[in-house]
Amino acid sequence: MSTLAEFIQGLPKAELHLHIEGSLEPELMFELGRRNAIALPFKTVEEVRAAYAFSNLQDFLDIYYQGAGVLLTAADFHDLAMAYFRRVAADGCRHVELFFDPQTHTDRGIAFSVVMDGLLAAMAEAERTLGITSALILCFLRHLDEAAASATLKAAEPYLDRIAGVGLDSSEVGHPPLKFARVFAAARAKGLKLVAHAGEEGPPEYVWEALDILDVDRIDHGNRALEDPALVKRLVREGKTLTVCPLSNLKLCVVGDLKDHPLRTMLDLGLRATINSDDPAYFGGYLGQNWLQTAQALSLTRAELVTLARNSFTGSFLPPDAVARHLAAIDAYVSRFPPVGEMSPKPQAGDNGGSVRQES
Ligand code: ADE
Ligand code: ZN
Repeated sequence: MSTLAEFIQGLPKAELHLHIEGSLEPELMFELGRRNAIALPFKTVEEVRAAYAFSNLQDFLDIYYQGAGVLLTAADFHDLAMAYFRRVAADGCRHVELFFDPQTHTDRGIAFSVVMDGLLAAMAEAERTLGITSALILCFLRHLDEAAASATLKAAEPYLDRIAGVGLDSSEVGHPPLKFARVFAAARAKGLKLVAHAGEEGPPEYVWEALDILDVDRIDHGNRALEDPALVKRLVREGKTLTVCPLSNLKLCVVGDLKDHPLRTMLDLGLRATINSDDPAYFGGYLGQNWLQTAQALSLTRAELVTLARNSFTGSFLPPDAVARHLAAIDAYVSRFPPVGEMSPKPQAGDNGGSVRQES
């Protein structure tokens, strides 16, 4: 492993933008299809992977909702989440705030309680066996109407003490945050945190609406906020966390090349950006690969990587004492890691890494 890859792997970090249904690997899709006697429109894992060529968000969503159709029982949701937790533990992830899309399942006749029972069991197991803490964010599907979102919030009522917040995902363009003003106000009144996908494909106006109308605590993606200097100023002033997803942006053609990804600009502008994987089974990389490939493409410095790690905890919904513990762990890690000058200056033959760039 290169020095850069090693540094990133050991750096304590959190993932704040992960759709658990988007961590369904083709192998598990086939296994669950067999277990539940559900036929898939693909013959092999390779065929599934070959279908993951997307030109925009909707292309991806069509196949993602189809894949989620193999999830039927609490054991399926448990196995899905445990596979993700195991994978991300290897990337040095210490805390996850995971999205789930209950409407994708309740609309197929799966009880809300089945989804919750499976996910909660995996979350408890991940903390016990892997030392990863986690929190749940219930996402409303924005291509459906607000009444359906309100019915979902009602179904969640028995579980509200185990749900940290609500979010807004699915097809962005044509479904502005304004459409969900009342259900977000109701969620806020119940003490839930609020987040929303905005500015992934949608215009800066959607980010303004997420802030002004939904009163969100974080913006998921937020790339297109950079088109509006007044909006950037507002996000910086309020210290609003952006949960940025570089490999997702590449796969969904939000950016043409990782070298052109706006993450470096976001940091330069003083935005509280974080790195996340979004739907890792579909976008070619879990948290660690998002960090590594972005660090390489943008030549991120060690100080920038540390800022990103700190942002992942300060932007989380963890209580202040837990945030402080994670920040102290980052400090301790950085002080133990060899100084930049002692790191290998070049990637070794056969590895995919590089050195951590010296501050300029
Ligand atoms: N659901 C799963 N992944 C998503 C994304 N990147 N944007 C919007 N909705 C999603
Ligand atoms: Zn997302």
